[in-house]
Amino acid sequence: MKVLVVGSGGREHAIVWKLSQSEKVSKIYCAPGNAGIGEIAENVNISAMDFDGLCHFAKTNAVDLTVVGMDDPLVGGIVDKFQAEGLKVFGPKANAAIIEGSKAFSKELMKKYNIPTAAYETFSNYEDALKYVEKSELPVVLKADGLALGKGVLICKTRDEAIEGLKTIMVDKKFGDSGNKVVIEEFLEGPEMSVLSFCDGNTIVPMVSAQDHKRAYDNDEGLNTGGMGTFSPSRVYTKEVADYCMENIYKPTVDALNKEGRTFKGIIFFGLMLTQKGMKVIEYNCRFGDPETQSVLPRLKTDLFDIFSACVEGTLDSIDVQWYDNVAACVVMASGGYPVEYKKGYEITGLDKAKELENTYVFHAGTALKDGKFVTNGGRVLGVTGTGKTLEEAIKTAYKAVEVIDFKDKHYRKDIGIKK
Ligand code: AMP
Ligand code: GLY
Repeated sequence: MKVLVVGSGGREHAIVWKLSQSEKVSKIYCAPGNAGIGEIAENVNISAMDFDGLCHFAKTNAVDLTVVGMDDPLVGGIVDKFQAEGLKVFGPKANAAIIEGSKAFSKELMKKYNIPTAAYETFSNYEDALKYVEKSELPVVLKADGLALGKGVLICKTRDEAIEGLKTIMVDKKFGDSGNKVVIEEFLEGPEMSVLSFCDGNTIVPMVSAQDHKRAYDNDEGLNTGGMGTFSPSRVYTKEVADYCMENIYKPTVDALNKEGRTFKGIIFFGLMLTQKGMKVIEYNCRFGDPETQSVLPRLKTDLFDIFSACVEGTLDSIDVQWYDNVAACVVMASGGYPVEYKKGYEITGLDKAKELENTYVFHAGTALKDGKFVTNGGRVLGVTGTGKTLEEAIKTAYKAVEVIDFKDKHYRKDIGIKK
């Protein structure tokens, strides 16, 4: 089978790597891919948002299945386009991907179907939102409605911050049209975790849990990033918690989407927080997490191509999805200055040495090839994953590999997996 993966980050490298282990997969293309992906797949220079170009490529190259990794094309309707052209594709249609594309939509869905989440109000009118924020309890959480690269969430501790934050979103439009609507939420506290799940429209199969580290610096200091590291499983996601989530969050979400005529096939990513009042949904995403995927997929035993195919066919209940009984930790190596300003084009050394280490996986995110050498080409450059019997072992293995890799101004957190 020929597979086309759409995307270019560490998440897509992990997906391509796992698919490459399938005996059923004979050829993998990745659009647009990156230098690391290019070692195990054929990169195709078509943008993830060029739906016509991607469809044309899939047809002319007899691609059997296209797998979409990124949120933008999913929310923008890439799956609808592929299906209309008679092409097989893994991912939700736009009317289901809206669970990530609109926070106002997903909050309303959760409220309507009693899925536990933070109390909230939605506003399209700035004056009304301002009146609300002037009286709300503090801290208060402001969220731009649409996609904002994970940056459209402001946690405001003081009244001034809240008023200023609202202006930033709704008047200054710092996150563009995403700020036409704002969701204003109750502030919750507790450990956070990510649970990605396979879904075929009716059956939902959660993957092993993971925990992300979103802030740029150690001890959760600095700005929010796309994610500086993950480990899997989360410490607090016990069997009891998982059972509770299945009954009260996962199944109800799939059923709710069906009732609304928005059948979801693909990956539902549940961003969860274990508060004193129980588990709550912080957010939904319509795709694999990045860098969660880099610590979750190395733990998957089952053939990923079989799982994707079953989701597309609606036969996920016939697949026994199995996991290794181990732990994984992924440390992101970023360009100095990320997530604000950083330079690209620095040579990356030590990749071959890292590859030789046991239980180590180096996933490329922002890399390119220049004169036959790997160079940095983005904010997040690599995701280095180590596995082991215990979290301590996994962390040690990951950092051992991180230490043999070098590039100018590299930056990585030293406390991945250590934070409770
Ligand atoms: P989101 O993009 O919705 O995942 O939000 C980004 C981050 O903001 C989350 O991972 C949480 O750390 C934080 N956050 C979002 N909503 C809340 C909330 N209601 N209370 C406390 N923290 C929140
Ligand atoms: N790591 C968080 C995300 O993928 O949204």
